[in-house]
Amino acid sequence: MERAIERVLISAEEIERHVAEIGKQISRDFEGKDPIFVGVLKGCFIFMADLMRHVSINCSMDFMAVSSYKGTTSTGAVKINKDLNEDVEGRHLILVEDILDSGVTLNYLKNYLMVRHPASISIATLMDKPARRKAEVYADYSCFEIPDAFVVGYGLDYNERYRNLPYIGVLKPEIYS
Ligand code: IMP
Ligand code: MG
Repeated sequence: MERAIERVLISAEEIERHVAEIGKQISRDFEGKDPIFVGVLKGCFIFMADLMRHVSINCSMDFMAVSSYKGTTSTGAVKINKDLNEDVEGRHLILVEDILDSGVTLNYLKNYLMVRHPASISIATLMDKPARRKAEVYADYSCFEIPDAFVVGYGLDYNERYRNLPYIGVLKPEIYS
């Protein structure tokens, strides 16, 4: 598996440090607000699991599963495969994503959830690729700003593989072809 990786972009130790930091920051910002963390599956699963262990306030968790159609003729359409179980009216939502790329997915989700009248919607992302942004959406909490490269590991996949790598790596170009 690791032979497919060109280089390590972010080590496991570095991830641990930054995730702990935003966990503390969110705990300060949402003290007494009982937020709901909304994980966007599948990419969020390792990040969210680690992040939650650094959140020290009362909160709950829920998950959504989405898929986006991205081909060459991208319509920006996002399909909801699993919706929330909890009622979010009047609640503070924190969307947890693996990576903010074009922003199409999170922009869609924000609008989709807004009509349920939550008290607020914030975004926590492990990585942000600002160079590729198409939609007007910004992360409130971001661990790493990265260049425009396709990365895998720590929950992120290429064709469903490499999610189990403990670090963030850049794939070798020949893997794509
Ligand atoms: P967006 O709608 O373009 O912001 O896409 C966000 C989703 O695309 C993420 O949740 C990932 O699932 C996927 N994605 C974007 N960039 C990468 C990457 O470099 N590696 C793996 N998945 C990515
Ligand atoms: Mg994802």
